[in-house]
Amino acid sequence: MNGRKILLIVGGGIAAYKACELVRLIRKAGLSVRCVLTAGGQQFVTPMTLAALSEQPVHTSLWDLKDEAEMGHIQLSRQADLVVIVPATADLLARMAAGIADDLATTLLLATDKPVLAAPAMNVRMWGHAATQRNVAQLRADGVTVLEPDEGAMACGEYGPGRLPDPEIILAAIQRALGAAGPLAGRHILVTAGPTHEPIDPVRYIANRSSGKQGFAIAGALAALGARVTLIAGPVTLPTPAGVNRVDVETAREMAAAVDAALPADAAVMVAAVADWHVAAAGQKIKKQADGAPPSLAFTENPDILATLGHSARRPGLLIGFAAETQDVIAHATAKRTRKGADWIVANDVSGDVMGGANNSVHIVSADGVESWPDLPKDVVATRLADRIAAALAG
Ligand code: C5P
Repeated sequence: MNGRKILLIVGGGIAAYKACELVRLIRKAGLSVRCVLTAGGQQFVTPMTLAALSEQPVHTSLWDLKDEAEMGHIQLSRQADLVVIVPATADLLARMAAGIADDLATTLLLATDKPVLAAPAMNVRMWGHAATQRNVAQLRADGVTVLEPDEGAMACGEYGPGRLPDPEIILAAIQRALGAAGPLAGRHILVTAGPTHEPIDPVRYIANRSSGKQGFAIAGALAALGARVTLIAGPVTLPTPAGVNRVDVETAREMAAAVDAALPADAAVMVAAVADWHVAAAGQKIKKQADGAPPSLAFTENPDILATLGHSARRPGLLIGFAAETQDVIAHATAKRTRKGADWIVANDVSGDVMGGANNSVHIVSADGVESWPDLPKDVVATRLADRIAAALAG
């Protein structure tokens, strides 16, 4: 990683003082860092502080002619290997999501062709506000890695999510985002995970017991090897693995659309337990009938996301499906591999407590035969699978 360059944008929030500590840690890790201070950022730390810590000039204004002569803003945004924003304020996230470029920081962010990592910090209600959440979802869909803020007591006296993660955690995310040594650096991998919810009416839905744990672990393991990961998650409460871009969906049809929007990809790992059917959802809550007659639900088949991808022109070079079976596991998986056009099917016997449990027993069914990994923790299955994917893409 030695010599890799970070462009650090310091936004205007009380957490800006932690950016100073981060500069120190980044340099200690053998990376170089050049800082940009927003107008708000200058209210909390001075250019002198960051210049002294980074031993590089600090940039504050788009209109600084000297900077434009020596180094234009386009060049500044592109000569870095990674652009990092600490703290990313609600205002900065909003302007980024909207594509506004009205100061040096936002202009650099719009002009850059490098990966962007944002570490938000703000008041708990500002973080929870629908507008901020919408902006974060948009930025993630645009490929920005937005870290989850920490939960705890805040400078403003309130409590909840919104604190800047510790500088050590941000440094770890920077190293993952650089993925310099990772065998999957430069690869885009799509992962689906969790169940889907198919609404029956505004208050009821059809679901399944998938926890999302295995898919989330796989997304994290792929990111740790340097891949750019898009994780399309059904309704689960799991935290987003570090360095992963997450898109939340509810129904199978939404998941299919999100997969389509995230293409192209070098590989796709379809771990989600997608509902096979949806029903025509009633607009109002279905009421009990006076005569006790049960309601009838008309089922319509959902798109098979894996099979659609397996037979599409935009099929990723490596396509992996999962098969949860309660009997004849390998025979069903083998048939599924051909039917869905997948390269590998990871088959697991879910007759025990696999769904929601910590362990998994899987069989990798490929054109080369069957490889079995009995009774392993789900995160070990994830790292082994990520290694196998890296080897297949390298070969
Ligand atoms: O047919 P079955 O549901 O057992 O297939 C499981 C595999 O197919 C999983 O990889 C799952 O993510 C994928 N699948 C899908 N879309 C569906 C149903 C299953 O992508 N509608």
